Amino acid sequence: MHNSLLYTASVLFILSVIQPSVSDDPFCGLPLPKTYVVYKLREWEGGVSVDGRIDEQAWLDVPRTDRFVDIQGEDYPRPRYETYAKLRWDDTYLYVAGYLQESDVFANQTKHDSVVFEDNDFEVFTDPDGNTHHYKEFEINAINTTWDLELSKPYLNGGNANSSWEMPTMKSATYIEGPVNNPLVPNKYWTVELALPFKDMVHDCTVATAPPKHGDQWRINFSRVEWHVKNVNGHYEKVPGLPEDNWVWSPQHSINMHLPERWGIIQFSTDPVDSTEFKPSPNWPVYSNLVELYNAEKKFFAINGYFTANLTQLELPDYVRKGKCASIPHVNVIKLYNFNATVKPFNSSLPKGNIRDDRLIWFT
Ligand SMILES: *[C@@H]1O[C@H](CO)[C@@H](O)[C@H](O)[C@H]1NC(C)=O
Ligand SMILES: *[C@@H]1O[C@H](CO)[C@@H](O)[C@H](O)[C@H]1NC(C)=O
Ligand SMILES: *[C@@H]1O[C@H](CO)[C@@H](O)[C@H](O)[C@H]1NC(C)=O
Ligand SMILES: *[C@@H]1O[C@H](CO)[C@@H](O)[C@H](O)[C@H]1NC(C)=O
Ligand SMILES: *[C@@H]1O[C@H](CO)[C@@H](O)[C@H](O)[C@H]1NC(C)=O
Ligand SMILES: *[C@@H]1O[C@H](CO)[C@@H](O)[C@H](O)[C@H]1NC(C)=O
Ligand SMILES: *[C@@H]1O[C@H](CO)[C@@H](O)[C@H](O)[C@H]1NC(C)=O
Repeated sequence: MHNSLLYTASVLFILSVIQPSVSDDPFCGLPLPKTYVVYKLREWEGGVSVDGRIDEQAWLDVPRTDRFVDIQGEDYPRPRYETYAKLRWDDTYLYVAGYLQESDVFANQTKHDSVVFEDNDFEVFTDPDGNTHHYKEFEINAINTTWDLELSKPYLNGGNANSSWEMPTMKSATYIEGPVNNPLVPNKYWTVELALPFKDMVHDCTVATAPPKHGDQWRINFSRVEWHVKNVNGHYEKVPGLPEDNWVWSPQHSINMHLPERWGIIQFSTDPVDSTEFKPSPNWPVYSNLVELYNAEKKFFAINGYFTANLTQLELPDYVRKGKCASIPHVNVIKLYNFNATVKPFNSSLPKGNIRDDRLIWFT
């Protein structure tokens, strides 16, 4: 064994004997959501031409995300159609390919920034800073009608959707196998191809850069809205009384996409395809304590009408209450109706994490 490895091993052993309940494991805390490594385009791959067909070399070269699942989790019925995405990047764009298996392709919305999810759609949510604020939402239907918006913060925190936010250099296209709006001819699938400009993605961000650097991680999620439709005299109509289905990459465990702390994590890589391993952020244990604390405070508030700094009053998992993954949260309650909390990492060269009652997460 190499000497320094032996040294590290023995130091770790001694540490584990001194503090058996304390862990520096980056997996300590919440289970990781879905993850995906995004590979930079190589010159010889010939680029991505945004025409809706996702058959270029650039797409063939990279793996699919896991098949989308019901938004409430993997225990809910498996979606009746397959959906997956693929991602690439260059210095200007994040490229997204979406595949939506479908027997009945329809689309009614034709105006940019209309409520695209009234139709079946494909949606991309991005939170480059991972702070849950100023995140972006993008929706597209089968006939390339798009809706791009910025959310100041999640709706549950009083956030506003701003549809005036635009991505002027965005490129989008769709391809439909078969006809659209014709119930007499069944379809097999439709595909989406997008080039989302990094400079717009990081608008209002403080940490994330455009373009990202090798190793950077962003929070992202995909979702697909699927209505039940039927043939009425040769055109599609929604089946009355049935809600839409929501199929997602990384389950939210709630019918709510606007919980950015549950989104998946993408990691940008300049390495050759398939040669980078996803590496959980060393901040994950601190992040987990913050999110658990936030959820427990919101639950306490819903019952009692105020926040508390007394952690014994909160329903917290043991690992947070006992400080197994990072320090026990320190909570400041501000005039009963607001709070902030700080969690320190065990490794003091890592940043402290903070969260507020409006869900904002930041590291200092
Ligand atoms: C909405 O976004 C536009 C474009 O970024 C911006 O000029 C405007 O101030 C925003 N409105 C609000 C209410 O934030
Ligand atoms: C799809 O929509 C985008 C953005 O509105 C537009 O630039 C593009 O030309 C459209 N593509 C097709 C094939 O219509
Ligand atoms: C599409 O629009 C037409 C005309 O408004 C309407 O009759 C039809 O029900 C819509 N189809 C779906 C599937 O929403
Ligand atoms: C995507 O968002 C949905 C809804 O918020 C959530 O259930 C799911 O876990 C998220 N998945 C990923 C990988 O982001
Ligand atoms: C914290 O809450 C517990 C349970 O309600 C209570 O027994 C305890 O006295 C409280 N501690 C402080 C310092 O208020
Ligand atoms: C939390 O709020 C208190 C009181 O307003 C303030 O003094 C403190 O700086 C805040 N801490 C953080 C981490 O924002
Ligand atoms: C502490 O964090 C620093 C910065 O990420 C890292 O270089 C170092 O290896 C970590 N130390 C331990 C014991 O994990």
